[in-house]
Amino acid sequence: MAKHIGILTAGGDSPGLNAAIRGVGKASTGYYGMNVIGFRDGFRGLMENRTVRLDSSVLSGILTIGGTILGTSRDKPHRMPVGDKTLDMTDVLVANYQKHNLDALVCLGGGGTAKNAYRLMQHGLNVITLPKTIDNDVACTDTTFGFDTALIIATEAIDRLHSTAHSHHRIIVLEVMGHNAGWLALAAGIAGGADVVLIPEIPYDVNKVADAILQRSRGGKGFSIVCVSEGAMPKEEAESLRAAQEAKAAAKKSKNGKKAEAAAETIAELESEQASSTVRLTRQLEQLTRLESRVTILGHVQRGGTPSAADRLLATRLGTACADLIDQGVFGVMVAARGEGHEPVPLEQVAGHRKVVPLDHPWIESARHLGTNLGD
Ligand code: F6P
Repeated sequence: MAKHIGILTAGGDSPGLNAAIRGVGKASTGYYGMNVIGFRDGFRGLMENRTVRLDSSVLSGILTIGGTILGTSRDKPHRMPVGDKTLDMTDVLVANYQKHNLDALVCLGGGGTAKNAYRLMQHGLNVITLPKTIDNDVACTDTTFGFDTALIIATEAIDRLHSTAHSHHRIIVLEVMGHNAGWLALAAGIAGGADVVLIPEIPYDVNKVADAILQRSRGGKGFSIVCVSEGAMPKEEAESLRAAQEAKAAAKKSKNGKKAEAAAETIAELESEQASSTVRLTRQLEQLTRLESRVTILGHVQRGGTPSAADRLLATRLGTACADLIDQGVFGVMVAARGEGHEPVPLEQVAGHRKVVPLDHPWIESARHLGTNLGD
């Protein structure tokens, strides 16, 4: 009997998603003779039963296209906005999975998607995930598809900013994405030769950053490029955030709802302040150094467009490996990238964990040896 599988893409989109859909789809249908359907817009499509048959005509010609042909959303099965309410719709998703006689559900996504897939696994679904995100922050995998393309875009941005910063003798601060992990900023900062790189893993002292820029200026370098991760924070704010997160966890543990709520409010305030922190940092640097400064926020440009060759290759090989695992009946795993190969990792090891940059990572060492200022 031919197996039936469903595929969905969830969370923020990322280059390489279509290459992965094609990899899973072509190997499952062409090589293994399975039937494959796609659900539109992430877990919402599974809830609303919005499907598309992924046959060879749909899977053809999508390798190089950015985004996802299936559409995506950040909806969670257990907290789904329905009308003006937010409901636990897990049972509906499970019923729809059964209605389609699925043998497996492939979820393409990052850490949040792994968590949601794990929950569905606990409700009896045969799930399998592939790690995508430009942030590279999924636990238990060497890397994620989308990261390489975003790195190329962010590096090119630094290259382009160099010439204009140099011409105008300015500080230019570039904010790149990465959520709460500094992989993208650190890698692009090194590859693009930024003078300062600020990442969430190393809370920064703005005075030390200004001193490093002034030292460059005294040495005859009248411009500086600062590459800052969107999650980077000054030391004091990072300390307050850590304290609030600890207070929230403790209050939750002791079931003190009011304290947990207060801590959650503090966290939300700090996070909303952080939304404008790169602009604030740029102003502070201008004041402290008296050098004209500009800010560039790269934003969703990093997530758009055609995937790099490396991302196409990674997404394709993880996609075809996923079809192999389905054929073998291996479920409840993420297909992790491991060296040139792959490895199925149990979802319970992935869900709820985040891969941040270890402080002794070789990239950090390399940046320090170059004399790059890391804000500490
Ligand atoms: O997780 C990927 C990511 O691009 C992060 O780098 C960023 O913080 C976030 O998504 C942006 O999300 P949205 O698409 O909701 O603006």
